[in-house]
Amino acid sequence: MRVPAKLNLQLAVGPPRPDGYHDLVTVFHAVSLFDEITAEPAGSDRVSVRGEGADRVPEDQDNLALRAAAALRVAAGPADAGGVHITIVKRIPVAAGLAGGSADAAAALVACNELWEAGLGQPQLLDIAARVGSDVAFALLGGTAVGRGRGERLTPALAPATPYHWVLAFADGHLSTPEVYAALDRLRDAEAERPAGKRAPDDRGTEPALDAALMSALRSGDARQLGRALSNDLQPAALSLFPALRKTLAAGLELGALGALVSGSGPTCMFLAASADRALDLAASLSGAGVCRSVARATGPVPGAVVMPAAR
Ligand code: C5P
Repeated sequence: MRVPAKLNLQLAVGPPRPDGYHDLVTVFHAVSLFDEITAEPAGSDRVSVRGEGADRVPEDQDNLALRAAAALRVAAGPADAGGVHITIVKRIPVAAGLAGGSADAAAALVACNELWEAGLGQPQLLDIAARVGSDVAFALLGGTAVGRGRGERLTPALAPATPYHWVLAFADGHLSTPEVYAALDRLRDAEAERPAGKRAPDDRGTEPALDAALMSALRSGDARQLGRALSNDLQPAALSLFPALRKTLAAGLELGALGALVSGSGPTCMFLAASADRALDLAASLSGAGVCRSVARATGPVPGAVVMPAAR
């Protein structure tokens, strides 16, 4: 299987729900940075991980890909479904705001569906994916899609097949998604306690809403408009926990990016370039500017988890 990383072109976050999650409206966008996953029959379930950041990925039952395989077995596995050995080759950095773990889980679902000939169609796989994690369903679907609820209720975005050229700046460090959401709640609580008149507009309690300017940019395929419309409610929280990212974002904009944003819960920063050539220039300049650990280029949108022909 090959499965892409995701960016959030918009991430609007509501107040915390009783179950600890936050209602979102987000625009997911799958980009050409892929993990590779292989599933083969085994005596019992196990996972091996190598590649970028592999030492940070659990190889026990906490591994999201193994949890996805177990969920599929319970939902639809044949009585004689044996164990599965999942091998993950990581290129999507871990704990980077790119949903790499969710991508691996989505690939594991599709792979085990094939391996066990469970015969589930996409709607049923999407259902199981949504229970495994908030971003797993999108990794199955890919493309560009609006996510609601925890992010698992998806509507594909109708947009021309314009490729966008992205530069990703990987940080020297990690951020935990729950910690970033918690930091956002604290920032919003602190803001609500300031005297009226000194407060920023209060967005607590308001329903997150889809950004019309962003959707119009996507419909027109205009990268300039898209660059201006990128937004992420988690960005102030990510910056409060990882202040060095301010410099990274500023450097990218100074070097001519059409837009700059922390990706998801961070700490990866994403930059939109006007063309493939501009992305190449931007990537080279950013990596020379010393504001991140490493840089990659990617295009989007790309499809979600797909089975690859077996290597010969
Ligand atoms: O669903 P997933 O396991 O990917 O979420 C990781 C964590 O991110 C959750 O435990 C929660 O703290 C936070 N989260 C949230 N609201 C969402 C999605 C994730 O608070 N919509």
